[in-house]
Amino acid sequence: MSRMIRFLSYPATACLIVLGGCTANVDDAAAPETTAKVEEKASTEAKPAADRTQAEASKPASQTSTYNYTGEVNPLSLVSLVKETTSATEGTPDNYLWLPSDPALIQDEPVTITPPAGLSELTPVAVVPAANPLTKGKIELGKQIYFDPRMSKNGTVSCATCHNPEKGWTDQSPVSTGIHGQKGGRSAPSVINTVYGRSMFWDGRAPSLEGQCQGPPRNPIEMGDQTYKEIIDRFRKIDGYKERFKKVFGTDVTLDGMAKAIASFERTVLSGNSAYDKYVKGDNKALNESQKRGMVLFGLDLNDDDEYKDSMKGVVKRKAACTACHAGSNFTDEQFHNLGVGWDEAKKEFKDPGRFGAEPVGAKNLTSLGAFKTPTVREIAKTAPYMHDGSIKTLAEVVEHYDKGGNPNPYLDFELKKKLNLTAQEKADVVAFMESLTGEAIKLELPKLPPGPDGKSPDPRSAFTPPSQDKTAANDLHLFVR
Ligand code: HEC
Ligand code: HEC
Repeated sequence: MSRMIRFLSYPATACLIVLGGCTANVDDAAAPETTAKVEEKASTEAKPAADRTQAEASKPASQTSTYNYTGEVNPLSLVSLVKETTSATEGTPDNYLWLPSDPALIQDEPVTITPPAGLSELTPVAVVPAANPLTKGKIELGKQIYFDPRMSKNGTVSCATCHNPEKGWTDQSPVSTGIHGQKGGRSAPSVINTVYGRSMFWDGRAPSLEGQCQGPPRNPIEMGDQTYKEIIDRFRKIDGYKERFKKVFGTDVTLDGMAKAIASFERTVLSGNSAYDKYVKGDNKALNESQKRGMVLFGLDLNDDDEYKDSMKGVVKRKAACTACHAGSNFTDEQFHNLGVGWDEAKKEFKDPGRFGAEPVGAKNLTSLGAFKTPTVREIAKTAPYMHDGSIKTLAEVVEHYDKGGNPNPYLDFELKKKLNLTAQEKADVVAFMESLTGEAIKLELPKLPPGPDGKSPDPRSAFTPPSQDKTAANDLHLFVR
């Protein structure tokens, strides 16, 4: 397990539990269901994917395969990836997990969120689970918990420490830093548009936002080695939270309510109405010429009535082939692909197994080794460094990675097994296009946090900077214990 903590940032044991403890059971983590859903989605709404065969047929000669990697993965490195599973909620009293609701206490109202231009609607069927409808009070409560450093064992880390609204909802670091300044093994993804995600984490091991948010509080290197009972006892001593839970859920503080509230808040963190979206809506001036060329190389179409169309002959549609994976309105196929990021050629192993590590025993598939979930490229100019391990510093270097056909390894994705042969101008154009995907500013007022039994209300900003290194857990304040 220590190995898993090192590279997963959420302990292996926590991850399957996370699945067990939320809306779904462990089986829901298995690939088939997710895959089926995504395929359905891809065929209905991802136009670029449909363009795919056509584009393959018209592929320029320069893109023929140059790939001839023949090495193998060191088999011994694989055995340690098969992990034990335990239940995360084991030892948590049932009435901390869930309580029956007293409807007479509830004072809340449903809300409809209208996403910015370019994003699909937040419908109960597709992206908001029926068990957790969006309500005004719940979103407010979730926002408070998200920004509350008292979620961590010593009051120094909140969700915003690693998913900071001022840094594109990431920490802009290669890997994230948690309690006592400890480093995790993966880069913190942005929480923007996660409402559309079909699975959570780089390896997709959590099925929902509700499931995902139960991991960090118990993770020894993120928010501290603490039990759910400990966290909920702490929140039950904060009158403001007890009140809010009554009004929103008609119950005392529970894990179920916390997860639902955090997920509801996250569903409102949306990035859209970017220059690209304005262009798609008909404003032909919203993108400059370089961005337009980049868009076409990326795999998307110019507007029919765009006069620039005639002057850009010679730009090969989909030459960069990005829409093979970054497709649909959130620029992701929600699938897992191996780009060779993190492959150690000397040791013949992956520094991080990716999707393979998350596949349940009984569903392990070697071709998932080193594969990670396609991230959105919306808001991408704000979230450097890039990739699951933060190993690529700039968007220009990301494009170079694709241009050379990724990093050769035994399971490199089919789409990358060829060089793109982009010119310097074309590379710059693709970068310029990605820069047009920065959305309109997300309006956010930081919440006021309710005072604890010590009379203090923490400032959400106090946790915006990751804690500095301090190796002794003995410094933990053990907030409100006794
Ligand atoms: C110490 C840093 C840290 C803290 C604290 C933290 N996270 Fe994360 N978060 C990460 C990292 C790193 C990942 C990716 C881990 C992985 O894929 O294995 C992640 C993944 C996620 C994802 C998945 C996004 C996606 O696209 O798959 C969501 C959502 C998320 N975190 C929300 C939260 C919430 C809510 C909290 C607070 C309860 C929180 N995080 C606390 C670092 C952190
Ligand atoms: C085969 C599928 C695939 C193709 C084709 C593809 N990507 Fe990706 N992209 C991914 C995956 C998967 C990741 C994450 C990989 C990892 O972290 O190991 C990623 C990561 C990225 C990132 C970093 C995102 C972040 O949050 O760190 C950027 C930027 C990006 N891709 C842009 C592009 C561009 C530009 C193209 C076309 C030149 C492209 N991608 C083609 C699947 C793909």
